[in-house]
Amino acid sequence: MQLPKLYKTLIALGLAGQVAAQTPLVVQVNKPKADVQPTMWGLFFEDINMGADGGLYAELVKNRSFEFTTPLMGWRESRSTKSTGSVLVINRADQPANPRFLRVKTDGEKYGLINEGFRGMGIKQGVGYDFSILSKNVEGNLTLKLELVNGEGQVLGTASLPLTSNDWKKHSVSFTASKTEPKAKLNIWFEGKGTADLDMISLFPKDTWKNRPGGLRADLVQLLADMKPGFLRFPGGCIVEGYDLDRRYQWKNTVGPIEARKGEINRWNTEFKHRLTPDYFQTFGLGFFEYFQLSEDIGAEPLPILNCGMACQYNSGEVVPVDELDPYVQDALDLIEFANGSTDTKWGKLRAEMGHPKPFNLKLLGIGNEQWGPQYIDRYVVFEKAIKSKYPNVRLISSAGPNPDGEVFGFLSGKLRELKADIVDEHYYRSPQWFMENANRYDDYDRKGPKIFAGEYASQSKDIASQNNKNTWLCALSEAAFMTGLERNADMVHMASYAPLFAHADGWQWTPDLIWMNNLQSYGTPNYYVQKLYSTNKGTKVLPITANNEWVAGKNKLYASATWDEPTKEIILKLVNTSDQAQTETINLEGVKKLDSKAKRWTMKGAELDSENSFENPKQVSPTEEELAVKGTKLNLTLAPQSFSVIRVKVVK
Ligand code: AHR
Repeated sequence: MQLPKLYKTLIALGLAGQVAAQTPLVVQVNKPKADVQPTMWGLFFEDINMGADGGLYAELVKNRSFEFTTPLMGWRESRSTKSTGSVLVINRADQPANPRFLRVKTDGEKYGLINEGFRGMGIKQGVGYDFSILSKNVEGNLTLKLELVNGEGQVLGTASLPLTSNDWKKHSVSFTASKTEPKAKLNIWFEGKGTADLDMISLFPKDTWKNRPGGLRADLVQLLADMKPGFLRFPGGCIVEGYDLDRRYQWKNTVGPIEARKGEINRWNTEFKHRLTPDYFQTFGLGFFEYFQLSEDIGAEPLPILNCGMACQYNSGEVVPVDELDPYVQDALDLIEFANGSTDTKWGKLRAEMGHPKPFNLKLLGIGNEQWGPQYIDRYVVFEKAIKSKYPNVRLISSAGPNPDGEVFGFLSGKLRELKADIVDEHYYRSPQWFMENANRYDDYDRKGPKIFAGEYASQSKDIASQNNKNTWLCALSEAAFMTGLERNADMVHMASYAPLFAHADGWQWTPDLIWMNNLQSYGTPNYYVQKLYSTNKGTKVLPITANNEWVAGKNKLYASATWDEPTKEIILKLVNTSDQAQTETINLEGVKKLDSKAKRWTMKGAELDSENSFENPKQVSPTEEELAVKGTKLNLTLAPQSFSVIRVKVVK
């Protein structure tokens, strides 16, 4: 076949199937703009999708202290036909945070309790497990025989634990698992004759993050730490607000000894009829102390969000009268004392008793989550006045509501600008198209207004909050395009985080999510790798990058941003090609005399736009790294169709 002449020429130039660049891109390295805030790229944690209990919090026993609405949810009895063994649920008045315990009576015949875990228990061969229980002998002496078993009843680990105390006392024993099993169960057999009271029945792996007893799942924290996040927002999300005010998140219930933390139903338990999760509760083993500690561990600024006297407006929407807000405001003031106060203050002392005498250095605090309407503004101003008069340096995050535009958004943005709010939290759960079309969202924002926290965003492949949304490459690519606009406008966008963070494959309510897990494994989605490329290649100053003196924000389906990184003296480029054609680009780095002869490049690209990662293929869509040869002060690059590239090149003298 005779090839057309032009096509032959293109092949000779290596450009067949490519769109040649229209004009060079220009980076004004000599004209650095705003600082990129250290907080720029962070994490949004919410206890949704079994993110805390059954997820990050490594406890394996579900309903360990029988406080779920149905006291024996997650438990069942097992017995021989002759056994007259029984359990009685007792509710005592003197321990309001942990009222229930079990009275077990057995006659020497085979009798026991089985805990099913959170969709089973993930058990790993060779790993040690710490079992503990609070117990009190009532009559006789019982010994617990513990067994971890798989679906076939095969024992994977076992231990014996005599219950020796006539007063409430913690009894513990450790053992090692002989086999890996994703869905094990825990059998507790009662040996001997007698009656004993039992509470706080717990099983933790020893291989937690930093090997902390009763700690967090190490694989999940590692994924977070690898992102080098600028902040950690916790604990949500709508979880802060509660279905109604009684069920709101109250941080004081989540600190102190774990047996004294008052649990709560999880508001995602019955939120979605199509994803009912009736066994979803909050034990608060992962509470505010642990969130502060986690933030510190991963080098992130802690950003707690507090209830502002309003329940979730998608649910009851009830509010506290403004003149009865005092306890809510006091919670905020006390939280600052808990995080930062000296150890001779009431709350600073508790922090020290929990193992952290040094302050956590809290600088950011969220007032309400996704609130809206004048009722929010009325309450926000009360918090603002009280907090700023005592702690003027704490920066407050306020809500712009659940949508990035429209009447509700317009009202709140206007009011918060009038109030000179510090930082406004904007949320966008929108289509990939929206993300690509809104990369220029902040280019013309009022520079005199509050700073922006892009607090929750995720491209929705199907529809907002649809159960059919997937973490596809197209979604991640569209977020990468949008994020060039956040970075370019870092003078006003001070913080950004994808949402939600975690989802358990067997217990989720909301999709898409940044990280998926089951009882043993976890993986980052394509969206995770996009976030990680941004947060690990942040830079310290914004550099203007233009084509024909215009921002590179979608023309020819190309998006770009650039930063300067002062510690490493590197220029960092982010280039997103959303077209289905390759694009060749010349990038002029103006104001630079000499570049290192080698640059680093990371490229992300999915085989298809709907490519996803999975437990079987966790890094199918993830960055590949290569070295680029650099000549002079220009870069010549080919951007593959529908790809995201990050380039770091060092300026040398
Ligand atoms: O991220 C899931 C939910 O989406 C959050 O709880 C809420 O803030 C938003 O509506």
